[in-house]
Amino acid sequence: MTSSKALTRTYFIFCRAFLLLTAALPGTLCAQGSDEVRSVQNIFAPVGPPAEILKQTAVLVLLICLGIFVVVGGFLFYAVVRYRRRSTDDDTTEPPQVYGSTAIELAWTVPPILIVVVLALVTARTIGEIQHPKFAGDPLELRIVGHRFWWELQYPKYKIITANEIHVPVSYLSTPRPVEMTLASADVVHGFWVPELNGKEWLVPDRENKWWIQPTALGTYLGNCTVLCGPQHANMLIRVVVESPEDFEKWAARQQQPANSDPKAEEGRKAFGTNSCGSCHTIDGTSFNGIFGPNLTHFMTRRTLGSGVAPNDEANLKSWLRNPQELKPGCEMPDMKLSPTQGDQIMAYLRTLN
Ligand code: CUA
Repeated sequence: MTSSKALTRTYFIFCRAFLLLTAALPGTLCAQGSDEVRSVQNIFAPVGPPAEILKQTAVLVLLICLGIFVVVGGFLFYAVVRYRRRSTDDDTTEPPQVYGSTAIELAWTVPPILIVVVLALVTARTIGEIQHPKFAGDPLELRIVGHRFWWELQYPKYKIITANEIHVPVSYLSTPRPVEMTLASADVVHGFWVPELNGKEWLVPDRENKWWIQPTALGTYLGNCTVLCGPQHANMLIRVVVESPEDFEKWAARQQQPANSDPKAEEGRKAFGTNSCGSCHTIDGTSFNGIFGPNLTHFMTRRTLGSGVAPNDEANLKSWLRNPQELKPGCEMPDMKLSPTQGDQIMAYLRTLN
């Protein structure tokens, strides 16, 4: 009875694992071109050259491994079936022992060496192509600074500083627009990964790493921090919005403007100052110039708040201002103990920053 229960349990665990795997492996394609805040990413749906090269290498490695699995598994299966014990009067004496067969020694030495050499060469070529790209076209410069638990984004040529939501123009064959990234960190080690666009790269304090993407299809691509950097590592999400060159220029022109100063939000602006919000956040065109938190100049142009933790809507912003530690426990923004009136005023002000 117990053993049949254990068997049923094992069967259920197996089914669950299988379902999980089949669901996770191909990913869901809904991240592409949609407005999702969270979604499963997919390394087998590359959008642009670096991710495409990585996928080709991954597929080659998987195919070689599949070949090895079939050959080794085939021999094993054959031996198990062919030499199984069939009846009690089977011949159970020791079979002839073979020593020093040159053919067998060569067979299990030479092919594995060749396979390893092929894998090493292909990997070296892939690393070279990813790390020393020859850009077709003038790359867009983007400096990304990892912070616990958000992303600072600087577009030096456009003189834009923003956060968490990367905007880049799409790359067409006729007009390639690679994005050359410089990755740095303000505190601990982080990792940058948008699976559809490229592999992972580190953001290390006191060091700059180069990275690049070249998205060839419109859409929104999501990514994660890949290095455990603290309690909110999992909510250090990246959004890459790939848009037409015209839309990108429009976005950039908007980001270059100083913040709105709507007279109706004047009380909120004052409350923002008296509660020291400005010592951590910058709002261009005001006296608020803190650098510990995300730049809020065009806060309302971003789809999410808290670096992807929730959609940037009224209810979530209200909750965030009441106590950021509820939506994002362990994040660096403390509970400011705002009164409900102050919270509402600051919310009204932030919601004018589009
Ligand atoms: Cu930053 Cu994990």
